[in-house]
Amino acid sequence: MTSTDDITTDDKTTENKTTDDKTIVQSYFNSVGFDRWQRIYGDGEVNKVQLDIRVGHQQTVDTVLAWLEADGNAAALSICDAGCGVGSLSLPLAAMGAQVFSSDISEKMVEEAKTRAIAQFGHDQNPQFLVQDLEKLAGHYHTVICLDVLIHYPKEQVSQMLTHLSSLATDRLIISFAPKTLAYTVLKKIGDFFPGPSKATRAYLHPEAEIVAIFNSLGWTVGRTAMTKTRFYFSRLIEVKRVA
Ligand SMILES: C[S@@+](CC[C@H](N)C(=O)[O-])C[C@H]1O[C@@H](n2cnc3c(N)ncnc32)[C@H](O)[C@@H]1O
Repeated sequence: MTSTDDITTDDKTTENKTTDDKTIVQSYFNSVGFDRWQRIYGDGEVNKVQLDIRVGHQQTVDTVLAWLEADGNAAALSICDAGCGVGSLSLPLAAMGAQVFSSDISEKMVEEAKTRAIAQFGHDQNPQFLVQDLEKLAGHYHTVICLDVLIHYPKEQVSQMLTHLSSLATDRLIISFAPKTLAYTVLKKIGDFFPGPSKATRAYLHPEAEIVAIFNSLGWTVGRTAMTKTRFYFSRLIEVKRVA
């Protein structure tokens, strides 16, 4: 996922060149990023750009839910939602009867997700929540999902992350990323020219062929795919399954 409202300049990168992306992302989502994204992922008043991103993100979430509904076996699944944010996907998955394990590197996002779970279900037992870097997650899950997280990381780190997430999944992964196409590269460049005060993370676009090649090398084959595209939000969704 990306948006021109969510991108920093290269100055920021230079300034933070000794700090790794993960530390920057974690501290962003525990501070200004938390305030911004919990509003976007809520139902209160937001500005027009944020509303557009909210609508786009909801479409991505709805596509995943529609895939699982079509499969008809959600209640039999264990699902790891890595980088769960405020629980936008985890909560409806739990409502469908899946056993959901939700984690995020940001304590603030997990706290908000728990609050929302308690408001919806009266408890925070399913989903089960954990503050954890996705590369430190353990266990095995039927399905591992990671939505709109990879945009925060460069190619090498994405490769490491997918390798780790792959080791957790027994049957399937569903991930989203901001696709690197000519049009979106131009859009990103435009965003780079207009940095604003809340733009504290970098956005990385990834060519779909690179993501698919990583999965293929790990023994996965592409299943369903989808693209969500609004004015300021674009996200490519892919499902991969074990090669038969
Ligand atoms: C744009 S939000 C998307 C949240 C959620 N997946 C959704 O679609 O509603 C990105 C989330 O990824 C989390 N995140 C970033 N890097 C992470 C990492 N290394 N491990 C776990 N979570 C991470 C952030 O804290 C943030 O909550």
